[in-house]
Amino acid sequence: MAERITLEELIDLLLEKEELISGTLSAPFEKSSPSKIVVRPVKQKGILLYQFEEHSGEQVFHRNLSKNDCLTRLLEVIPRFKQTCLYSSQADYQILVNRKRLITILKHSPTKEAQSLEHNRKKNYLLKEGEEIPFLIHLGIMTPKGKVIPSKMDKFRQINRFLEIIDDILPQLEKDQVIRIVDFGCGKAYLTFAVYHFLQEVKKLQIVLTGVDLKEQVISDCQKLAKELGYDRNLFFIPGDIGHYHPESNVDLMISLHACDTATDAALEKAVRWKARVILSVPCCQHELYSQVQNDALQPLLKHGILKERFASLATDAARAQLLEIMDYEVQVLEFIDVEHTPKNLLIRAHKRLKPIQSPIPLQCYQAFKEALKISPCLERLLNISLLV
Ligand SMILES: C[S@@+](CC[C@H](N)C(=O)[O-])C[C@H]1O[C@@H](n2cnc3c(N)ncnc32)[C@H](O)[C@@H]1O
Repeated sequence: MAERITLEELIDLLLEKEELISGTLSAPFEKSSPSKIVVRPVKQKGILLYQFEEHSGEQVFHRNLSKNDCLTRLLEVIPRFKQTCLYSSQADYQILVNRKRLITILKHSPTKEAQSLEHNRKKNYLLKEGEEIPFLIHLGIMTPKGKVIPSKMDKFRQINRFLEIIDDILPQLEKDQVIRIVDFGCGKAYLTFAVYHFLQEVKKLQIVLTGVDLKEQVISDCQKLAKELGYDRNLFFIPGDIGHYHPESNVDLMISLHACDTATDAALEKAVRWKARVILSVPCCQHELYSQVQNDALQPLLKHGILKERFASLATDAARAQLLEIMDYEVQVLEFIDVEHTPKNLLIRAHKRLKPIQSPIPLQCYQAFKEALKISPCLERLLNISLLV
């Protein structure tokens, strides 16, 4: 709902009532502006301040401002960004700025809860800041003294979050056997090394873990690092296309983090064919359905490029989740990590059902969905599902 309040009144109100939980400014108009600014309250020696985390290229700058300076700075920077989200305990405010610098404020139900400021960022991560973790140092996420490099903090949080999710599903993977894991689209393998470290070194489980990626040089670097760290007995890196990867034995856990566009579909297809017991996949760049989706009743939404893009992206993940259900997985779609750390933040978590549900309903729902949107999702084609109910 559009809020009839000026920007200054809104910020003043949030700061005066100390209700601001956090704020994110994204999509700057000018290239010279920071690419993103995150604001959050912090307490230093009992004094309430507002920390501005400004991202410029690879660098991140922090400074703490008083309430009045925070108001001034927000009024100065918000008009330079197409979108700002201010989260408070009472409501989420979305501030949209158009090319003529006209500001619209939209008010939504709150999605965040205030946290103790004293507790301030000292989250109990599985990979702990301050501990010298060799692979994180080699991959340039930590300094040799164990401090996370500020520009790598988002990556550090992402892999920690992924490890928490893996920790949650561990009881479903039998511990007395070797757990076979594949990380599709592993890239520089921050996550792959983290999973290895956590399951093999910390949890002392027997695992065989393979990272697969198209980029030969990146894979060769990962192989070298695995060898250097002494992990190469059961941590492997294979160059090549996900679609062409054929392991010697089936895989228990398939993970993929930001495998671009239909690479996620290729990863899901493989996992389904192997009957992988657990699938954890965080998709990204879901472009496929953008050019397909059509529905006259959705014209108010589809005529706006940005809304169509987001809708098509959500429809892609909805179709994936439904197809996994049809293939006898129990599926949840969860928020992976706070959007302020990455906009690519949905996780598809799927567990293979012990007994098939043998109901035509998931397939009927899928069929109705794809017909309504006139879409033909990649995963359906890869799985070659018969739609004859
Ligand atoms: C955005 S990166 C993510 C890397 C890593 N998972 C992470 O989160 O840091 C996506 C990776 O997927 C890889 N990729 C894309 N399509 C692929 C395919 N069909 N087969 C194998 N790798 C693919 C790219 O080479 C790239 O390294």
